[in-house]
Amino acid sequence: MFQFSAPPPLSLYIHFPWCVHKCPYCDFNSHAIRGEVPESDYIEALLRDLEQELPAVWGRTVQTVFMGGGTPSVFSPRAIDQLLSGVRARLPLNPDAEITLEANPGTVEQEKFAGYREAGVNRLSIGIQSLNDSHLKALERIHNAAEAIRAATAARHAGFDNFNLDLMFGLPGQTTEQSCDDLLAAIELQPAHLSWYQLTLEPNTRFYAQPPVLPDSDRLWDMQSKGHSQLAAHDYTQYEVSAFALTGRRCRHNLNYWRFGDYIGIGAGAHGKITDGGQGVITRRWKQRHPQAYLATAGSAKCVDDQRDLTGAEAVFEFALNQLRLKQGFDLGEFEASCGLQRGRILPILQQATRDGLLVLDGSKVRHTDEGWRFLNNLLERFLPEETPHAGSNPD
Ligand SMILES: C[S@@+](CC[C@H](N)C(=O)[O-])C[C@H]1O[C@@H](n2cnc3c(N)ncnc32)[C@H](O)[C@@H]1O
Ligand code: SF4
Repeated sequence: MFQFSAPPPLSLYIHFPWCVHKCPYCDFNSHAIRGEVPESDYIEALLRDLEQELPAVWGRTVQTVFMGGGTPSVFSPRAIDQLLSGVRARLPLNPDAEITLEANPGTVEQEKFAGYREAGVNRLSIGIQSLNDSHLKALERIHNAAEAIRAATAARHAGFDNFNLDLMFGLPGQTTEQSCDDLLAAIELQPAHLSWYQLTLEPNTRFYAQPPVLPDSDRLWDMQSKGHSQLAAHDYTQYEVSAFALTGRRCRHNLNYWRFGDYIGIGAGAHGKITDGGQGVITRRWKQRHPQAYLATAGSAKCVDDQRDLTGAEAVFEFALNQLRLKQGFDLGEFEASCGLQRGRILPILQQATRDGLLVLDGSKVRHTDEGWRFLNNLLERFLPEETPHAGSNPD
């Protein structure tokens, strides 16, 4: 049984499962639009889904909202307004809540951004991926570099100074110089935040089935170290493996995930993690993945594809997996508060990792050594639960 003095902060994730085109590298739950997007049916389904979640979070205030996808910006500002009004009517939302919407160039213009802002969105995450036309083509993006720049400029003109740009490196045939050029061009757009991901080949994608030629590990290392220097030189501080922000502009929603906070997940395939302090359980649940199945079941018990309570060993692993992505490390007090377990549960692994030169344990503070940060996967594997868990099992 976990013991909590209070449940951790609560966020809300809302998934939008449609895109104009399915990108060949993407394994997110996103489907190419055929015909019309069932906009109002989907918003109504989301609100029914949310209502079903309410008993589990009664009395708690939502601190951040993230509308991700897929491509939420294929939805009109009117639909987003209806959704956010519906959320506010059903749940207490912190007046200072961070409310992010993912937007793709090629699906937005200034007027649409202004509408999202009026609906209450106060942060945008724009997926530009690259600012090189030939790479954008290889990624089958629906926009070119000029359109990506136009989208970022339009966001600013619509009043969004708090916007993120998603960018990838290690693209097919990319040179280090090209990845540096991409980063510099993105920095010139003055985003508050940059998410800079290495392109990975994910199972169940076209790139996985027919892999393009990607830069080798030496070149990737070169791209990464030069990129980190460029970002630091322009005041973007790395605070997570792929996240860089100007002062005060870290993404509060993602920080809540990485600190092992709670979140309600609504929408097709959305995952949630909720702590029930009274019962001493942490439950993960996820919704029907296919949009049609989701639309048909939202609001009923069938909408929950599955759910399970975490074991103690799983909570330790998931906590470490998330917290150790953060550069700042964590405090053992945070472990006790968000896992509901005594620090003795995690200490032996931390002490061994300290002896092996991967972590520094300073009183109750835990942080990586350079070696630990560089070989993060090795570090994280040490927290893996020893036995395969069974659905519905209790923390030991
Ligand atoms: C949830 S996706 C959706 C964002 C938005 N629909 C778009 O494509 O612009 C968020 C980000 O994950 C990154 N991403 C997706 N697939 C990836 C992959 N295979 N490797 C690395 N990054 C990936 C992209 O940068 C993308 O913008
Ligand atoms: S990368 Fe973005 S636009 Fe492309 S399929 Fe995935 S979610 Fe859709």
